[in-house]
Amino acid sequence: MSLKKVIITGGCGDIGFATGKLFQSKGFEVVLTGINEEEINSRPKIENVSYEILDVTSDESAQELISKHNDFNVLINAAGIVMREKEFEVNYFSHVVDVHLNGTYRMCAKSIGILSKNKGSIVNFSSMLAFFGGTLSPAYSSAKGGISQLTKSLAINYASKNVRVNAVAPGWIATKMTDTLRSSKFPEREKEILSRTPMKRWGEPEDIAGPIYFLSSEELAGFVTGVILPIDGGYLAYP
Ligand SMILES: NC(=O)c1ccc[n+]([C@@H]2O[C@H](COP(=O)([O-])OP(=O)(O)OC[C@H]3O[C@@H](n4cnc5c(N)ncnc54)[C@H](O)[C@@H]3O)[C@@H](O)[C@H]2O)c1
Repeated sequence: MSLKKVIITGGCGDIGFATGKLFQSKGFEVVLTGINEEEINSRPKIENVSYEILDVTSDESAQELISKHNDFNVLINAAGIVMREKEFEVNYFSHVVDVHLNGTYRMCAKSIGILSKNKGSIVNFSSMLAFFGGTLSPAYSSAKGGISQLTKSLAINYASKNVRVNAVAPGWIATKMTDTLRSSKFPEREKEILSRTPMKRWGEPEDIAGPIYFLSSEELAGFVTGVILPIDGGYLAYP
């Protein structure tokens, strides 16, 4: 039987965790990463799921993870942060870009040898904000635009290494990252988001997990590479 092992960065976050549970239910050995012990301890113990600390901005941390888990066939780069208005300050701007764009590339670069050997695949995280400007999150939006281009560039280069590279571009999903937008602090913003979303609801982490599984699967999506897949309840299609 072919190898079924996935590493999910940001796997203790809401979308990463929901994705890990789906892969586990499909018979995968799952490695979920958290930024610290506290985040890891907030998630339950599940059969065939292990937890590791990872900071994607650190070469050492990434290398340690890959050296320990040196055989896997799927990499999912879900780690991310948003700092909103703070991102207008250069040091925060750089940090947010470092986590998303450099962090995603770091994990791809360190995994390509292993994934190539296993005819594996990579799923990155872009965003709606790669298609639109983000009024209050210049770094996040720039980094997500960069991840879309990185995904296409690596898809071309890694094809000859037998590795497919795709990305999901979630719309507005109910997670810790969007808690503030769903709080009483920004009632108008939430109203705007929902009125522009044809399906009239926030996405759930599980809404993203299924498409990630599809993109990662050689059996289901073996001829799909370089795709940025919006999962947004129709937000992008709105005129
Ligand atoms: N929630 C949304 O509406 C939405 C929309 C589009 C894209 N996304 C993307 O989805 C992905 C998952 O986000 P989420 O909504 O589940 O948020 P989340 O905050 O629940 O999860 C983010 C995870 O990334 C981890 N992380 C942060 N900095 C890190 C670092 N330096 N190294 C390693 N891990 C780090 C966090 O600890 C957390 O586990 C992110 O890439 C995010 O940008 C989310």
